[in-house]
Amino acid sequence: MACPMSTLSPQDFAELDPPTRLLMGPGPINAHPRVLRAMSAGLLGQFDPEFTQYMNETMALYRYVFRTANRWTFLIDGSARAGIEAALVSLIEPGQRVLILDFGRFGLLLREIAERCGAEISSVAAPWGEVIDPELVRAAIGRVRPALVACVHGDTSTTMAQPLDEIGRICAEHDILLYVDATATLGGMDVPVDGWGADVVTAGLQKCLGGPSGSAPITISDKAAARIGARRHVEAGIAAPGDLADVSASGGPRIGSNYFDLAMLMDYWSERRLNHHTEATSMLYGARECARLVLEEGLEARIARHARFGRAMAAGLSAMGLSLFGDQAHRMANVVGIEIPPGVDGERVRRRLRTEFEIEIGTAFGPLAGRIWRIGTMGYNCRGHAVLLTLAALEAVLRAEGFASPPSAAIEAARAAMAG
Ligand SMILES: Cc1ncc(COP(=O)(O)O)c(C=O)c1O
Repeated sequence: MACPMSTLSPQDFAELDPPTRLLMGPGPINAHPRVLRAMSAGLLGQFDPEFTQYMNETMALYRYVFRTANRWTFLIDGSARAGIEAALVSLIEPGQRVLILDFGRFGLLLREIAERCGAEISSVAAPWGEVIDPELVRAAIGRVRPALVACVHGDTSTTMAQPLDEIGRICAEHDILLYVDATATLGGMDVPVDGWGADVVTAGLQKCLGGPSGSAPITISDKAAARIGARRHVEAGIAAPGDLADVSASGGPRIGSNYFDLAMLMDYWSERRLNHHTEATSMLYGARECARLVLEEGLEARIARHARFGRAMAAGLSAMGLSLFGDQAHRMANVVGIEIPPGVDGERVRRRLRTEFEIEIGTAFGPLAGRIWRIGTMGYNCRGHAVLLTLAALEAVLRAEGFASPPSAAIEAARAAMAG
């Protein structure tokens, strides 16, 4: 009998040759060429001393990026969501009370992951386009007495950035762990992990860090590490005498995921190098290069660059006569939401930007689907020419779609904002 596979022909599968798009959505963005070059470096085994040295360097570099002294600062292999899962499955014991701060799609994602971890959930929510008043968090903590508060820093679905200084202080006063998803802000807005007093913070590479998705930097305070360590156990096949191979011997309930077990991952990234998964070598090279780029530029200069070009993009869009979405006092520096003008087909505009100009901008989710576009100025694409090209292309497409704005007003406004 003929194997169905035999009908396949190599001619049907051309070598990869993707179009050269300018990715100006809320992420992913174009990776910095140096990151892509680093990722093509030769592979090493994960116990090779040269490779473990790269692991240690990566830990040191991300302490700088996260502005933390946390010993446990490393990478989770997987997209940003893997970092979130690792944090929540390792922090939450089934039946524990968790307070979710929800002001967009990614707050709801935290809720859904925490539910899967068996948490008893309470939430404080703000309408999409607004952020949460810390006093409501204080009141909810008093009412619920949660073991953990979980919050997004910059929620790309709404483009809002939640201020976390006060919330960090409130959690510290009540001795409650604070988890923060900084996927969309790390390397572009200030993420002062120790300043906030956050216990676990996770991110991804594909936004302000200027890399591809597939690696999730994480940092863990000593307090959170101790909490997680109380649930530590060692896989039977690699346990040495004295290890807690017996689940019950570790005291706390076993973490419900092997791949995302932060106690095991801390063992793996420790000097013991206790075996876990096969490290994603090329992703580590990429993540290390992303952080090297941050160090070279300087964190402050990088944050200022994101503020400057984000402001320029917003100024240009406003000058075009478009309305920006949400509470502008709390908008992320690096992503802006634009209300789709009445009578304009938002998807047609996105398609024309892509096919005529090779530029991608973002669509929206849930209640904002069809109502807003989202444009990012992040990482490698947080540059003057990327802002000006996107504005010029959008102006041309909108004009062709019947929404006329004063010619070149967007470019002039963006140039002025860049200079200011
Ligand atoms: C704030 C936030 N959190 C989490 C994620 C999920 O990241 P990933 O798609 O890399 O898993 C995203 C992705 O857009 C995000 O913007």
